[in-house]
Amino acid sequence: MSFIMTLFLIRYIHIISLILILANSFCLQAELRRFRFVVKEASYKRLCEEKRILTVNGKFPGPTLKVHRGETIVVDVFNRGKYNITIHWHGVRQPRNPWTDGPEYITQCPIQPGSSFSQKVIFSKEEGTLWWHAHSGWFRTTVHGAIIIYPKPGAPYPFTNPHADVPIILGEWWKEDIVKIRQDFLESGGQPRDSDAYTINGQPGDLYPCSKQSMLKLEVKHGQTYLLRIINAALNEILFFGVAKHSLTVVGADACYTKPFTTPYIAIAPGQTMDCLLNADQQPDRYYMAARAYLSGAGVDFDHTTTTAMVHYADPYWPSPSPDMPKLPDFNDTSAALNCSYSIRSLNSQWHSVLVPKVITERIFTTISVNTLPCPANETCEGPDGRRLAASLNNISFVTPHIDVLEAYFYQISGVFGQRFPSFPPTVFNYTADGLPVELQIPRKGTQARVLRFNSNIEMVFQGTNLVAGIDHPMHLHGFSFYVVGWGFGNFDAQKDPLNYNLDDPQLRNTIIVPKNGWAAIRFKADNPGVWFMHCHFERHMTWGMETVFIVRSGRGPTQRVLPPPPDMPPC
Ligand code: C2O
Ligand code: CU
Repeated sequence: MSFIMTLFLIRYIHIISLILILANSFCLQAELRRFRFVVKEASYKRLCEEKRILTVNGKFPGPTLKVHRGETIVVDVFNRGKYNITIHWHGVRQPRNPWTDGPEYITQCPIQPGSSFSQKVIFSKEEGTLWWHAHSGWFRTTVHGAIIIYPKPGAPYPFTNPHADVPIILGEWWKEDIVKIRQDFLESGGQPRDSDAYTINGQPGDLYPCSKQSMLKLEVKHGQTYLLRIINAALNEILFFGVAKHSLTVVGADACYTKPFTTPYIAIAPGQTMDCLLNADQQPDRYYMAARAYLSGAGVDFDHTTTTAMVHYADPYWPSPSPDMPKLPDFNDTSAALNCSYSIRSLNSQWHSVLVPKVITERIFTTISVNTLPCPANETCEGPDGRRLAASLNNISFVTPHIDVLEAYFYQISGVFGQRFPSFPPTVFNYTADGLPVELQIPRKGTQARVLRFNSNIEMVFQGTNLVAGIDHPMHLHGFSFYVVGWGFGNFDAQKDPLNYNLDDPQLRNTIIVPKNGWAAIRFKADNPGVWFMHCHFERHMTWGMETVFIVRSGRGPTQRVLPPPPDMPPC
């Protein structure tokens, strides 16, 4: 081959590869799958009564998003309802992209009626089950749905291939309009009205009036295994869930695989998901599945009802006259709830490894309290001693700003938030003692965020307090999953307790139950620059101010910075 020819060829190859690269990047662009979410009202009849509810695409529960690990999708959200709305992708890390995360006035202003917002949802390491929900007002009651994240195409599950996937969404239903429920709650200063039913995939089940026909029926075949993707979308209650005569094998939680753990029932908090294998290994028959509340707080009202669905074997059988009910623990069985929650361990296999931060650069200790405020003059308040209920982290009751924190941070708008969320509570007291003085119940109000350096290793200890009434709190962090390295009852002991941390195979969660009058310790690497909400996933506690915001600064490298905002950010 002549020299000239070779030169030609080299140039040719160069151009070809350039074209290929360009084509490839265009393809990647074109390959982003798009989903259409139209937020609108629809009529639904439950408990013998018809009601207008807010939905996505008219569906309750809303549509299931099915993606593969590492995929990026775009969800075009149209607001055709009459209220402001935002949509959040619960548990999706959204690397460097807080813009489309969704919490109202934290990362965006709401999508107003008649407008739309195209939200990029970037999946990275998550694999298993997550969910999406409204993150404004209390609309998540009906505006929610499952997210199923399959392994990468061709990659296996770390357990026997299930015969079928079954999303099990646990919810709460009020006969009255949820806007009214929230308004009355805000005005009264007391507890919210109890729900009228719990639901499984939107259906209360046959223990409630007018609900028998529509109850969820799951058909199974003897000898086959089903993957129940269980989501707690209830507003205010941790729930026990089980299937009569069948055990559940937990294989994943919050979109991270776990060591298989077999149990007769699970306890699942609002915000959490659990992937459980159900082996249809019993005598062919009908069996109830059921869920009801776990509630530890003394004097806290709650809905005592039980939601049901039916597992039917498809094989021929003579049905027993009355199907078996699962035996669920008592409403206040704290050890049942916590044993279940804290028996979970990360799988920690070759493909799903555990990377617990070992050298901690920043420690934050925060109390989690229910509080009270004096009742304003010429109002009546339904909280304890005629006071108004509130809630706080490190005694700061979070006040939601009117411009979102992300925008204020990114464009350096001052006066929107402070950066002084403290590393320690302002007053040290015996947090979990009985009969704490009323003075300690009064929080400060403020909009304080916490700034974290890029790539710093954070340890955070949540300390529940017995102010007003001790209760469990499902604490949730946006933008990260965290390792739950320790927990206990009573006050955290900074000398002794860390000696018992599990740094080998701790569970990786986005929501963890902090025990009643106890503590939980979490660790994460602040490697996701952005603005990330952290809050109790009990809706009433969040409304009372049990939350703060983490701002993770950008690193130096071009891939360590927050991505630019999308062009259609909803205006404030
Ligand atoms: Cu399930 Cu702030 O979210
Ligand atoms: Cu709480």
